[in-house]
Amino acid sequence: MSSTSTEVDLTDPAGLKTQDYQHIDQAHVWHPLYQHQNLEQSQLTVFEQGEGVFLTDSDGNRYLDAYSGLWNVNVGYGRQEIADAVYQQIQKLPYYPLSQINKPAALLAQRLADLLPGSLNHVFFSNSGSEANETAIKMARQYGRQRFPKENRYKIISRYRGYHGFTYGAMSATGQARRKIPYEPLAPGFKHVHPLKVEEIEQVIQWEGPQTVVAVIAEPIIGGGGVIIPPDDYFPRLREICDKYKLLLIIDEVITGFGRTGELFACHHWDLQPDIITLAKGITSGYLPLGACVSTDQVFEAFMGSSDDRLEFEQVCTYGGHPVVCAAARANLDILTREKLWKNAAQVGTYIRQKLHPLVELPIVKEVRGKGLMIAIELMEADGSNLATASTNLITQELKEYGILVGKIGHALEEPENILFLAPPLILTLEQADRIIDAVTTVISQH
Ligand SMILES: Cc1ncc(COP(=O)(O)O)c(C=O)c1O
Repeated sequence: MSSTSTEVDLTDPAGLKTQDYQHIDQAHVWHPLYQHQNLEQSQLTVFEQGEGVFLTDSDGNRYLDAYSGLWNVNVGYGRQEIADAVYQQIQKLPYYPLSQINKPAALLAQRLADLLPGSLNHVFFSNSGSEANETAIKMARQYGRQRFPKENRYKIISRYRGYHGFTYGAMSATGQARRKIPYEPLAPGFKHVHPLKVEEIEQVIQWEGPQTVVAVIAEPIIGGGGVIIPPDDYFPRLREICDKYKLLLIIDEVITGFGRTGELFACHHWDLQPDIITLAKGITSGYLPLGACVSTDQVFEAFMGSSDDRLEFEQVCTYGGHPVVCAAARANLDILTREKLWKNAAQVGTYIRQKLHPLVELPIVKEVRGKGLMIAIELMEADGSNLATASTNLITQELKEYGILVGKIGHALEEPENILFLAPPLILTLEQADRIIDAVTTVISQH
């Protein structure tokens, strides 16, 4: 390998200004969940740089990112350690598929197995949360056929309001009508239940016939569907139901994993043992794309046999276990565990919720809820109905003018959409929390 290094020019092509990027973008970039006709009236922001919890746009405006990108920049922006790990690995071995071994993937899988509860020891890598769930769904169905060859176990129970991804299987498990309707018919064999009534799951299993059901998939706390927190007995009871009917429990920790809810994994809140756990987002803090589907020894064993038995998992992912991405994930996990960021999330999250709770006295605020740094503020009209989407949008816009970026529920429930999300990086200090609290209090009080 040549040791000469070449300078790469990352500066703007000559003279391009914010408006030029907006024009280029408008002409060529298709944005998610976005009505492009609206670009005629209001332009999107060009983000240029991130440092800690702050972002700077191309006009030099600074914002506190109280949504961590998309719930995922857990260790904050600008971590040199991750950049260095990526740089070193990309020089050493930029790519080789997992048909053989690469060191960062092996070490990351070992690390995940150490951190995860119980015997979640076997990691299938992919590139996103959707793919992690897609993998889990396929794994569960194949497990069903191989473990119960005389039965017909393929149905998967999931929850309304839950989100599991944009690919067909993950979307079929998703319980948000608007994101699915244009693409129906979806994959068969997905049955949806109320997000908080655990007994309904047993009822559906009985009505469907237990010998046809293979798994239940659930987010520990429904995220994009509104930060819906289950009662404390929900997951212990769900575990019992799954055991009783020999179903796999797939827990989607794509948002909640890696400290967001005040524990390293949300499963820890209830001592919950999943059979399969899916991970993405915080696994690299968004620095590079990575998804992981991790199964227990018991699930893994159903895929063992001679070559003639054809029991192996029939899936390949070109970039799954990419060495550079896994190196980034390892550096990210080093930071997260060294700084015990879930503890900060628990402390600062409790502080924010306590300070924001009095807002329920205002006629516009229905509820402030959350766990750790996963917080929702639900808004309402004077008559108690959901606040109009336009008013919720205006509040997020005004907060942005205050320099605070918050999230907002989008396309996840029937309009009007009335829920704001706070999910800042887990490094947030109490002083930075005060900035969020002050801005939210001021803006919401004016409505
Ligand atoms: C709980 C949950 N699962 C899965 C996904 C899909 O992840 P990705 O967008 O990385 O495909 C998301 C994305 O927001 C999510 O919130």
